[in-house]
Amino acid sequence: MSLEALKREAAAQAVALVRPGMRLGLGTGSTAKHFVDLLAERVRDGLDVVGVPTSEATRAQAERLGVRLTTLDETPELDLTVDGADEIDGALRLIKGGGGAHLREKIVASASRRMVVIADETKLVETLGRFPLPIEVVSFGLGATRRAVEAALAEAGCAGTLTVRERDGAAFRTDSGNLILDAALGRIPDPERLAEGLDRVTGVVEHGLFIGLATAAILATSQGVKVLGE
Ligand code: A5P
Repeated sequence: MSLEALKREAAAQAVALVRPGMRLGLGTGSTAKHFVDLLAERVRDGLDVVGVPTSEATRAQAERLGVRLTTLDETPELDLTVDGADEIDGALRLIKGGGGAHLREKIVASASRRMVVIADETKLVETLGRFPLPIEVVSFGLGATRRAVEAALAEAGCAGTLTVRERDGAAFRTDSGNLILDAALGRIPDPERLAEGLDRVTGVVEHGLFIGLATAAILATSQGVKVLGE
């Protein structure tokens, strides 16, 4: 099975969890895109749900496909968020933000009773950190924030390099207008400690470590679907 087919399979299993009247968080990325596609098919067949998108890209897709949208101001509590991830470990800890959407993704997941991660089997890792950790920072004071981030990394036993993310030769800007520092660490021995350290850095808006948020993961493998949690 191709990677795309595996992603769609995981998305299809997540769509089966959706019930009429649910308030949904709609994730971002290529796997979440399959979920929104498949959800829209059910909406066309009469399913009544409402969604909060985690990015402008997901908003545009959902609007185009006729999925009714709301905001966390109108609907501050959600039933279920379905989103992809860049890495997942056996304790349902995640790295997210490969697409730069992790700030809104974390806000939406935090407002949800359940967060189900959908992914192909390549995302499951023993130790987080092979995927560079995205850290969203405000552009003001970048040099000082960068030094504070380096100190937080060292304190949590991580070694590696920080790179300001670029796209088309210019600094990448998130949907909220911020920059991203990608931390290439190789392995993160203590994700909780690192998350706490980064949370304390002024200038860091949000990092891509999602701890205690995912309630389940649906992983599509060539041998079938594997479910972690719930
Ligand atoms: C977006 O910023 C990310 O958190 C995505 O959810 C993550 O990168 C997974 O994307 P894919 O499903 O495209 O791998």
